[in-house]
Amino acid sequence: MKIFIDTANLKEIKKAKALGLVDGVTTNPTLLAREEEDPETLIRKISSEVKGPINVEVTGITYEEILKEAKILTTWGEEIVIKIPVNEEGLRAVKTLSQEGIKTNVTLIFSPSQAILAAKAGATYICPFLGRLDDISFNGLELIRQIREIYQNYNEFQTKIIVASVRHPLHVIEAAKMGAEIVTVPPAILEQMVKHPLTDRGISQFLEDARKIREKR
Ligand code: G3P
Repeated sequence: MKIFIDTANLKEIKKAKALGLVDGVTTNPTLLAREEEDPETLIRKISSEVKGPINVEVTGITYEEILKEAKILTTWGEEIVIKIPVNEEGLRAVKTLSQEGIKTNVTLIFSPSQAILAAKAGATYICPFLGRLDDISFNGLELIRQIREIYQNYNEFQTKIIVASVRHPLHVIEAAKMGAEIVTVPPAILEQMVKHPLTDRGISQFLEDARKIREKR
């Protein structure tokens, strides 16, 4: 299972990398807008920091705009993946880019039918948004389950699922139980995944007892 980190914050990326937990990075315009630096400078820094796919989203709307922007974005690092929202123009662009050997990530996936079309277009990855479906009382995990079932039915579908819009550790656990290949996790949730009150209590107890042993000698 691969863990990508869902942030454009370099400090948070470096921290997660120091733990040895970052296989890739996902960004989007919202995450980039939270940062001070301009997107190009920041993505270049992230790319030199992390060995693995760095997902950067296009903001162009038309097929032509998306292709033009994708060509520029790929020069920002060695493993840039072009994130493209799923719609007709986007799917056309994914098809062309995949034929040119450029890696793509079809994002804002909310239905199995969108996932089928993204795979048909040759997407390298898709990002189904788990949390945003839960937010509107649809079961996000059920979407992941259905997409996995469909993709497993067809050998020609090589598209990998990046479980996205993760809101809490249980999302990661449930996705892992389904065998999800990649989960992109916000830094705060990565920290929550490490924590357990019984671990903290256990460490305090062990340290206290170790101190008692030293004092006896
Ligand atoms: O990777 C997609 C993710 O950033 C969206 O998450 O929490 O804005 O739904 P969220």
